[in-house]
Amino acid sequence: MLELITPTYNLHLEFLDLVAEYQQAGEFRMFDQNNLTLIQEDFSTYIQYLENNSQGINLKPGFVPATNFWLVMNSKIILGESQLRHWLVPTLEHRGGHIGYMIRPLQRSKGYGTTILAMTLEKAKNMGLSRVLLTCDQDNLASARIIQKNQGKLTSEGLWENSDKVISRYWIDL
Ligand SMILES: CC(C)(COP(=O)(O)OP(=O)(O)OC[C@H]1O[C@@H](n2cnc3c(N)ncnc32)[C@H](O)[C@@H]1OP(=O)(O)O)[C@@H](O)C(=O)NCCC(=O)NCCS
Repeated sequence: MLELITPTYNLHLEFLDLVAEYQQAGEFRMFDQNNLTLIQEDFSTYIQYLENNSQGINLKPGFVPATNFWLVMNSKIILGESQLRHWLVPTLEHRGGHIGYMIRPLQRSKGYGTTILAMTLEKAKNMGLSRVLLTCDQDNLASARIIQKNQGKLTSEGLWENSDKVISRYWIDL
């Protein structure tokens, strides 16, 4: 059974396992160092930090309220995470959009990326949004495919800051 839940203290050991999996896969940038320390040493504060982000409490300057979700199988395996930003600001319009997602390395290519976006779109609709912006690097073919399979319509492409990375932007009507 798959569910999209808000983060819970009860899955601390499972979350540590997920973090270790990213690290073993060489994907060190998924969590910044401050969060890593909290995840390992003070998980209840990490959960509270996510809850605060969702409620717009103690946000970093320029950040908007954002709700994190975990895609969980059978109430015990965390397959991936998504984040729903409650509204856009110019930086998110350029790159980031309303929703970001990731699937843990050993669970990829099984359709879960497509599922986590579909389930997060439901959450966005329930929150009252009527359409959402998704962005991805043009060369992130799996992510582009996920967005297209969720009825994303490509509306613009442009360079990321001073780099040669092209970002694709899609809108999805809810
Ligand atoms: C992008 C990511 C979420 C994909 O998750 P996933 O669970 O592997 O995705 P799915 O299994 O649902 O696959 C989606 C589609 O992409 C395709 N795909 C998967 N990997 C691919 C690859 N390396 N190249 C091209 N297409 C790929 C799949 O075949 C599938 O298309 P299909 O249904 O037409 O066959 C995952 O790789 C990830 O977490 N990456 C790191 C974080 C990230 O890039 N997030 C997105 C930021 S915009």
